[in-house]
Amino acid sequence: IRHALVDPFQRQIDYLRLSVTDRCNFRCVYCMADDMRFLPREQVLSLDELARVAERFVALGTRKICLTGGEPLIRQGIVDLCRRIARLDGLKELCITTNGALSPTLATPLFDAGVDHINISFDSLNPSLFRAMTRTGDRDQVIAGIDAAKAAGFRHIKLNTVVMRGRNDTEVNELVRFAIERQLDLAFLEEMPLGTISDHQRGDTYCSSDEVRARIAEQFSLMAATDNTAGPARYWRIAEAPDIRIGFISPHSHHFCSSCNRVRVTAEGRLLLCLGNEHSQDLREVLRSAPGDDALLDNAIISAMANKPYRHHFEVNNEVQIVRFMNMTGG
Ligand code: GTP
Ligand code: 5AD
Ligand code: SF4
Repeated sequence: IRHALVDPFQRQIDYLRLSVTDRCNFRCVYCMADDMRFLPREQVLSLDELARVAERFVALGTRKICLTGGEPLIRQGIVDLCRRIARLDGLKELCITTNGALSPTLATPLFDAGVDHINISFDSLNPSLFRAMTRTGDRDQVIAGIDAAKAAGFRHIKLNTVVMRGRNDTEVNELVRFAIERQLDLAFLEEMPLGTISDHQRGDTYCSSDEVRARIAEQFSLMAATDNTAGPARYWRIAEAPDIRIGFISPHSHHFCSSCNRVRVTAEGRLLLCLGNEHSQDLREVLRSAPGDDALLDNAIISAMANKPYRHHFEVNNEVQIVRFMNMTGG
């Protein structure tokens, strides 16, 4: 197996985040406008095209794939796609990042299809705040989804919470207690400024990971974990519950770019070299103009690595420069 994906800063790229749809059944305030328009279907990669992208990335040395969206579980045929990807020789880990609303019915089929790891977004235990942050989500349905993932047998389940000042920032310790009760990892995310969101001013709601951690330290004994992965999260353990990890994903305050090991492919087949940057390579064009030509697709992927920037720059002169929404980017 080749390790062909190395960028100009000698970072080995062995992790792909692959978005399978830009659509979602939620409208989280930090992710989407409430009147989002979605891509026409013909612009979205087909299941065969998605499987082919995954196959070529794995052939080029990718070890981990995370399927994202939008909401990946609303894509018809997702279980079958997971089964095809999980079988790829050389892949070590297949992960799915979901809002959890559909996992009551899909958790077991996904586990059986070979998905190793599931990340579920969960922003609040308060039903009306949960609804306000997701605009359409139902807290109880997502808790049922979390429990279904546990019951299905997933051993790696992580909850993701985007912390927003004035919303769920005062609730972080309750979320920690929820994670302890259910024995799940939990990561707190700093909000990222992607897309311009009509009724939501990001500056007002930004809350740093240091502040969240200080709040947790008021009630729990935090110790830095020694088993950090190459991912963006910095993990801590709590003495009260040694088996779970509390992570902080801090793109603003502690950017993790020097050890970045990942790229993304959007639902329309754009290879994005960095979340906080517009450099991209159109793979759909290559997929559709030369359907059987692996060498051409491989070359498009390999040569794009030269454009991976050293780090993300969400803002230049205090102006947000990323016009993509998160659901277009692949959370
Ligand atoms: P695992 O938990 O190991 O699967 O990896 P992960 O933490 O990368 O996965 P997860 O899907 O939980 O990612 C959580 C969130 O972290 C994503 O939804 C993004 O918002 C953010 N994130 C992931 N990768 C990057 C990155 O390369 N740059 C930035 N700025 N944020 C990222
Ligand atoms: N900032 C930080 N995280 C975000 N997510 C979506 N939009 C943003 C944003 N603007 C996260 C969600 C979910 C994942 C898909 O992306 O919480 O965990
Ligand atoms: Fe959907 Fe996830 Fe975006 Fe929320 S964050 S609107 S669940 S894609």
